Formats: sequence, C-alpha cells, structure tokens
Amino acid sequence: MVKAIVGANWGDEGKGKITDLLAEQSDVVIRFQGGANAGHTIINDFGRFALHTLPSGIFSPKATNVIASGVALDIRKLVSELKAVEDAGVPTPRLLVSERCQVLMPYHVLLDAYEEERLSDKAFGSTKSGIGPFYSDKYAKIGFQLCELFDDALLKERLEKVCALKNAVITGLYHKPALDPLELFAELLEQRELIRPYRADTLTFVREALDADKSVLLEGQLGTMKDPDLGIYPMVTSSHTVAAYGCISAGIPPAQLREIVAVTKAYSSSVGAGPFVSELFGDEAEKLRRRGGDKGEYGATTGRPRRVGWFDAVATRYGVQMQGATEAALTCLDVMGYLDEIPVCVGYEIDGKVTRSFPTAPLLDRAKPVLKTMPGWKCDIRGCTDYNALPAQARAYVDFLEAELGVPIKLVSTGPKRHENAVRRP
Ligand code: GDP
Ligand code: IMO
Ligand code: MG
Repeated sequence: MVKAIVGANWGDEGKGKITDLLAEQSDVVIRFQGGANAGHTIINDFGRFALHTLPSGIFSPKATNVIASGVALDIRKLVSELKAVEDAGVPTPRLLVSERCQVLMPYHVLLDAYEEERLSDKAFGSTKSGIGPFYSDKYAKIGFQLCELFDDALLKERLEKVCALKNAVITGLYHKPALDPLELFAELLEQRELIRPYRADTLTFVREALDADKSVLLEGQLGTMKDPDLGIYPMVTSSHTVAAYGCISAGIPPAQLREIVAVTKAYSSSVGAGPFVSELFGDEAEKLRRRGGDKGEYGATTGRPRRVGWFDAVATRYGVQMQGATEAALTCLDVMGYLDEIPVCVGYEIDGKVTRSFPTAPLLDRAKPVLKTMPGWKCDIRGCTDYNALPAQARAYVDFLEAELGVPIKLVSTGPKRHENAVRRP
C-alpha cells in the first residue's frame, strides 16, 4: 500500500509532523522532491528537529528511509544533518539514496545567489540553496547523477564541458570568479566517499517492498502552490510538489498510490514572494505569526518570518484537488484559540467579479479576499486527543472547512508534538 503525505498550500503545513506520526506504522518512507531548501519540524521523544533532506521516517525503528531520484541531493548538507540527529541520540537510521539522484553542485548555490542579487528587488525570494539552477541543469541534461560520481574519467570530462558553459555566465554576466573543473573534481571525490555507504538501487528496493505488500509512505516538500506547473508560477519551486510526482521519482506504478493525505493548516502561511490573497499585515499578522506553529511562524531552515493569513478555502480546495487528495489532515487548530471570530477566505473578487475557482498568477495579483466569519472558541485546546471533547465552535470550524474542501478531514492536529492529534473520522 502506498500513501502520500503532501502539502495543500504554500508549504509548512505540518507535513513533517504527520509523516513522523504515520512512519510509526510504515515500512518504507520516501522523500520524493525538493532539496535542503525548506524544513520539516518534528517534535517527538527524541527532541525537536528541523529536517531538510532526510525523510521524516528516520525516527521510526521500523522504517527504511529512501531519498528518491527527484530530490536535489546536497551531499554535505545531508551528511551533516545525519550527524546532527545521531548526536541528538537518535539511533542511526536505515537510509538509502537513489543512485539516480542528481547531485547539487557548489556552483548551483553560487548561481542561485548571483541571480537573486542581480534581480535585486525583483528577486524570487529563493532560499539561495541552488534549487532553481540545479533543476534547470537536470532538465538541460547537464546534471550529474550520483552513479556518475563513481566513474572518474566520465566525471572529469563532463565537468570540463559544464564548467566551460557555466563560466561564460559566471564571468560574462555576473562578473564573478570562474569555476575550476579540477577543484570541483577533487571536491566531488570527497563527496562520493561521504555518500558511498548510502548509495543504492532504490528502484529495485521499492519494487521488492511493494511485491512483499509493505506499507510505503511518500513524503513531499512545500505544497501545491509551489508546483512549477500547477502553482503560482514563477514564484514556485523547481520540482513538482504534487503526489503524482512521487510515483515518478520513486518508480512506483501510479495505480498503487491509493491514499493521498493533503496537509493543511487552520490558517495560511507562505514564504517568499508571490500572490497571497488572504494575507494579513501589521498587528493582526503579528498576533497570528507569534502564536503559529510550535515557536511562531518563522522558517524552519532560514528563520525568516513567514507571511501569514486566514485560511484560504479557494486556494486550499484547488490545492487538495491538484494533489488528488483522498483525505485532508488539518494542523494547528490550537493556534486559533485566541480569536473571537475567525475569518475564512471563501472567494476571490477579481475586477468586480467573485470567483471560487483558483485563477492563474497574474489574476491572483488583482484578487481581493471575500471573507466569511466563523465564531471562535476562545480557549486553549492544545494537545486535545478526543475530537468530541473539542469545543462546539472548533468542531463547527472544521466542519465548515471540510465542506469547502470536498474531501474528509480525518485527522485534526492540536499541537506540534507527535501524538497531539484528534482522530475525527477513522
Ligand atoms: P512542513 O514543512 O510542512 O513539515 O511544516 P513545518 O515544520 O515547516 O511548519 C509547520 C510548523 O507548525 C512547525 O513549527 C510545526 O512544529 C508546527 N505544527 C505542526 N502541527 C501543529 C499543530 O497542530 N499545532 C501547532 N501549534 N503547531 C503545529
Ligand atoms: P521553511 O524553512 C516555505 C519557498 C521560497 C520560494 C520557493 C522556492 O520555512 O520550512 P527555492 O529554494 O526552490 O528557490 O524556493 O519556495 N520556500 C519555502 N516556503 N517554507 C520554506 O522553508 C521554504 N523554503 C523556500 O521562498 O518561494
Ligand atoms: Mg517547512
């Protein structure tokens, strides 16, 4: 059985927490896209962690963790992340890295930073971790699969060709120091020794797991709005954030993906530039930001204050539909306990017309939120595990969101810790 845990929104919906929870019962946990640019926060018996590339199944003694071919593999960052979790007392996780995974190069990080600097106030708000340049090279067929690091002659030859191309841009456009292919070659030889113990034919591993009826979890990064095809292009990331891509990345037959859990928060948050219709500003934003997440809505990786707003039913319904979600998990319900009334964005007004359909990005820039207000519950529900014990107004809020989304909200998360959840529907 294959299940995917994916984000319905802009990312940071709480996928890490839900994956860590479901990993307790899973045999294989596969991270299928993105790189070390964003973070998944997990709070369990081992402590508090922000994972970047490691799958969120690493805390489960039962699970084998796989980094699939769709991930941007920053080898040094992965190795230091592994060391950090081991230093924190987590038993060494079982980890396999696909030999088809492409390696994020030092020049991807440089090019990401140079381009954001060149764009200045028109920048994308990238994390400058090389993600855009990495995926561009992958599709331009000038990337390096992990398996290629193990062939010296091939590696040297390809590095020379790629450096010639990159140097034209680096020196000509950005006026920065040229790359030295021999220096890069030496660096990659070091990286290959670091990754050697984890390199694997994960396609065969996953197929055999499916043949043996094992339970497999696919874990996405960011959310639908950051998908390059389906999101708010160009303010997106550079790999597909939708569950369907998990099948491609991990080599799973699409018909085997039976359950897709779209994770969404009881309010909205977004990092980086781009349209965000239900965004709050000033005092109202600060109140929500301070109370959001486990330590306020600040980036798990970058520490940047996240933009925050009311729950956006138009964007989230679209997000759920594009994920092909069979159910939703609603996180951070506890955060809303300070409000007398809770506005929800139920429509967009664009050029005087109200729509409930999620439009393209240029139209989104002109959209104003149409708000409906729900009564608040004004009490602390943090850690509540009995759905029926929640205040009636909290349950009515969840009922309302479920009707807007069109898929069952089965799990409601009431706190950042692993077991702070109330099952709403079995
Ligand atoms: P991800 O990228 O989707 O894994 O999400 P992040 O970990 O980046 O951001 C989610 C934030 O919400 C983190 O700070 C989590 O600890 C926190 N979180 C998750 N679920 C809950 C919840 O139910 N209540 C509260 N208060 N915080 C939560
Ligand atoms: P945390 O650490 C949410 C956003 C960026 C940008 C887009 C693409 O808060 O969990 P990229 O690095 O691919 O060029 O970024 O994705 N983004 C995040 N959104 N949470 C994050 O991490 C993010 N890291 C990057 O702002 O719009
Ligand atoms: Mg995150």
